[in-house]
Amino acid sequence: MNVCIVGCGYVGSTLATLLLEQGACVFGLRRRVDHLPIGVEPLAIDIFHAEALRRGLPEALDALVFAAAVGRGADQGDYKRLYVDGLRHVIAALEARGQRPRLLFTSSTGVYGQDDHRWVDERSPTEPASFSGRCMVEAERLLSACSLETCAVRFGGIYGPDRTFLLRQVAQGQAKRSDVLHYTNRIHRDDCAAVLSHLLNQRTLAPCYVAVDDQPAPHNDVLCYLAELLGVAAPEVGPRAQRTRGGSKRCNNRLLRESGYQLIYPSYREGYRALVSADVPKTRPSDVD
Ligand SMILES: NC(=O)c1ccc[n+]([C@@H]2O[C@H](COP(=O)([O-])OP(=O)(O)OC[C@H]3O[C@@H](n4cnc5c(N)ncnc54)[C@H](OP(=O)(O)O)[C@@H]3O)[C@@H](O)[C@H]2O)c1
Repeated sequence: MNVCIVGCGYVGSTLATLLLEQGACVFGLRRRVDHLPIGVEPLAIDIFHAEALRRGLPEALDALVFAAAVGRGADQGDYKRLYVDGLRHVIAALEARGQRPRLLFTSSTGVYGQDDHRWVDERSPTEPASFSGRCMVEAERLLSACSLETCAVRFGGIYGPDRTFLLRQVAQGQAKRSDVLHYTNRIHRDDCAAVLSHLLNQRTLAPCYVAVDDQPAPHNDVLCYLAELLGVAAPEVGPRAQRTRGGSKRCNNRLLRESGYQLIYPSYREGYRALVSADVPKTRPSDVD
C-alpha cells in the first residue's frame, strides 16, 4: 500500500511508523521534514502552494491521510487557510493528476455545537459556535462533495507523550475544578494512529467516524484522577486555569467499535496511567489535552 500523510506530525508520524511496520510505502508531507520517522519518504511541501502540491504528490497512491494542523497562536485566517483551502488544494491536486486514492481527513469533535451534556454521534447535527469548528464543518463538506472515496475521522482531544499539559497543571497545583459540569472527550495519540491504520485496512468505510475513547468524562473527574495518580491534592474549585474547548457533550464511538476497532486506552484512566508510569509528563507550554 502506498500512503501519503499530509501533515506528518504528532499523529501522522505515529501512523507512519505503524504503516511501515505493515510493509506500506509511506510518504510524509510537511514543510519541515527533518524529524520524520526513519523509512518515511520526505516531501517538503507547503499545502498553501497549490502548484507545488500538484507537482510534488507521489504517483500511484492508494491512500492519502490529511492530518495537518495549525500551529500555536493560530488565528481564524490560519484555520481557514489550512483546513479549508489546504484540503481544497490537496483534492484539486489529486483530481488534476487523475489520482483516486482513498482520502481520510482528521476532523474534530469540535464540529458539534451541543452544550447540554447530550450524547452525539455521526448522525447528530454539526452546528458549532466556534470558528475552528465551523472550518472543520466546511472542510467535511468539501470532502463529501469531492469525487473520491472519503472519510472524516472526528477525533476528541488528543493526549499522549509530549502532550501532557493537563498533568503538569495538576502536578503544579495550577489546575482548578469548575462548579459547572463539563463533559470532555479524549483519545490517546496511539489510538488516533491505530484508528487511522484500522480504517485504511477496511474494505469499505462510512463517510464519517467519531473517534474518541469509551468514556466521555466530566473535566473535574479527570483532574481529580490525575491528582490521585500524581499523589497531589485534588485541585480546588475556582476560575478555570485552562480553557475547556467546545461545548459539554458526550461523543459516542459505537460506529468505530462496530467496525472492529478495539481501543488501546479505553479511557483517560488507562491512558494517563501509562503516561505517568512511563514518567513522561514533560510538556511544552501550549500542548493540548
Ligand atoms: N490536538 C487535538 O486535540 C486534536 C483534536 C481533534 C482533531 N485534531 C486533528 O488531528 C490531526 C493531527 O493532529 P496533530 O496533533 O498530529 O497535528 P500536529 O502534529 O500539530 O501538526 C501536523 C503537521 O501539520 C504540518 N503542517 C502545518 N501546516 C502545514 C502546511 N501549510 N503545509 C504542510 N504541512 C503543514 C506541520 O508540519 P510543518 O510545520 O513542518 O509543516 C505538522 O507537523 C490534525 O488535523 C488536527 O487538526 C487534533
